[in-house]
Amino acid sequence: MRLDRAASIDDLRRMARRRIPRFAFDLVDGGAESERNLRRNLEAFEEIQLTPRYMVDVSTIDTRAALFGQSFDMPFGMAPIGMLNAFWPDADLTLARLCKRRNIPYVASSAASTTLETLAEAADGNGWFQLYVSSDTAVTESLIARAEAADYRVMMVTADVPAAGKRDRDIRNQLAVPFRITPEVVAGLIAHPRWSLATLRHGKPNIANYADLLQSATSYAEVQKTLITPGFTWDSLRRLRDRWQGTLLVKGILHPEDAVQCADIGCDGIVVSNHGGRQVAFGPSTIEALPRIAAALEGRIAIILDSGIRRGADVLRAKAHGADFALSGRALAFGVGAGGAAGARRALEILELELVRALGQLGVASYAKVGPSELSSLA
Ligand SMILES: Cc1cc2nc3c(=O)[nH]c(=O)nc-3n(C[C@H](O)[C@H](O)[C@H](O)COP(=O)(O)O)c2cc1C
Repeated sequence: MRLDRAASIDDLRRMARRRIPRFAFDLVDGGAESERNLRRNLEAFEEIQLTPRYMVDVSTIDTRAALFGQSFDMPFGMAPIGMLNAFWPDADLTLARLCKRRNIPYVASSAASTTLETLAEAADGNGWFQLYVSSDTAVTESLIARAEAADYRVMMVTADVPAAGKRDRDIRNQLAVPFRITPEVVAGLIAHPRWSLATLRHGKPNIANYADLLQSATSYAEVQKTLITPGFTWDSLRRLRDRWQGTLLVKGILHPEDAVQCADIGCDGIVVSNHGGRQVAFGPSTIEALPRIAAALEGRIAIILDSGIRRGADVLRAKAHGADFALSGRALAFGVGAGGAAGARRALEILELELVRALGQLGVASYAKVGPSELSSLA
């Protein structure tokens, strides 16, 4: 299929699946255990009805959203994704540049395959930094200092990693970092020569921010020790709040009391997220968790939502339930996988087209005005 014939993010996902070896596609596409949470994210969005209103002038649609003193052209940004160069070479830089060009936020992952400095430069003022707190405080402090020096103003600490997500597809695929060459990997490389050549040309995907640290690592479990923090507590968050001068967000909030605690500690916002269904299979979808969180927070701090955004209307569903802004992980990643930079542009084009059309149909000319009255149960 040609990129311009891709009508939906799901079309781009199918295109990416054909171009990318199974182990690398599954690394991005997969979720925890039975993947019930991953599917629940998608299904829960689809179930939410918004009621169109007509005879309203929608000849000019305004998709802008203001957040943390900045105005973005669309009400969503790119979520942090680690090791994305394993999916498609140069995916990080491609997306950081695109986000800058289209004036939306780009969140650079601690575990990105490109350094946080290079991504800050590419995102040029639109970059946010996502922090994985390491069990080794020196590693965490070094990342924070580097983020400060690179001029990131927004830091998002990921809270939902007290344990590694058990991703059955990765276990079956024998995924290992650093990559191990298994017969399945060789078969995948031969079957996808374009991916293999491009990956060879760009060098082995790695976790760039920890390059020195990881050079000595011999197993995935060892690598994960840097990314998994069973000892991260509310006290750690308080210390982080004291340490970081800029905007501080906590990502991975699903319980209203945790959200209130983040506000009490002085965080500037939360990301209602279940890591795209990658941590547990038993958890709630984020769109179902959101209303209670929004009610408990009473507008004290910003609410961003991710996990399961595949349509422009999903961003509006989140807004109607109390979110201020959204992030998308896989939707834009599938775009890159389907066609590099052009594919990423196509993914954004699709989401934008859907967003603009949905606002028109709802009879709400600007994103800022979408609220609970669009929900069918209240209309
Ligand atoms: C392959 C992959 C890697 C991810 N890596 C990170 C990461 O390094 N840090 C983080 O906070 N979240 C990470 N996430 C979670 C995303 O930031 C985001 O919460 C999730 O993708 C949202 O769900 P969606 O993919 O359905 O949009 C990752 C997600 C995927 C799919």
